[in-house]
Amino acid sequence: MKPGNKPGGGIARAKPVGFRFDGATYEAPAGESLAAALLANGIHHLRDGPEDRRPRGAFCYMGLCQECLVEIDGAYVEACRTPISQGLEARRLRYGKAQVK
Ligand code: FES
Repeated sequence: MKPGNKPGGGIARAKPVGFRFDGATYEAPAGESLAAALLANGIHHLRDGPEDRRPRGAFCYMGLCQECLVEIDGAYVEACRTPISQGLEARRLRYGKAQVK
């Protein structure tokens, strides 16, 4: 069944696929945003604040605040605007550690 509204109510979701965040493996429906998929898996801490180093996480979930930045293939991307695909690998931004370039 294609993702979308189900006849009679509910939401039809795409088939779950595997993705990785900070070395751990999770599952989420293909096409769901990385930020939503992480939230559904209990992950709220997406990056560290650049000044106070405190945990930061998604806020607006629509590409406006940049609170959800993560690293994918060396680029900083908004997790809320990144669709999940099989094998996607993302990392938390850790300021003050070697991980941030
Ligand atoms: S949560 Fe605001 S830009 Fe992603």
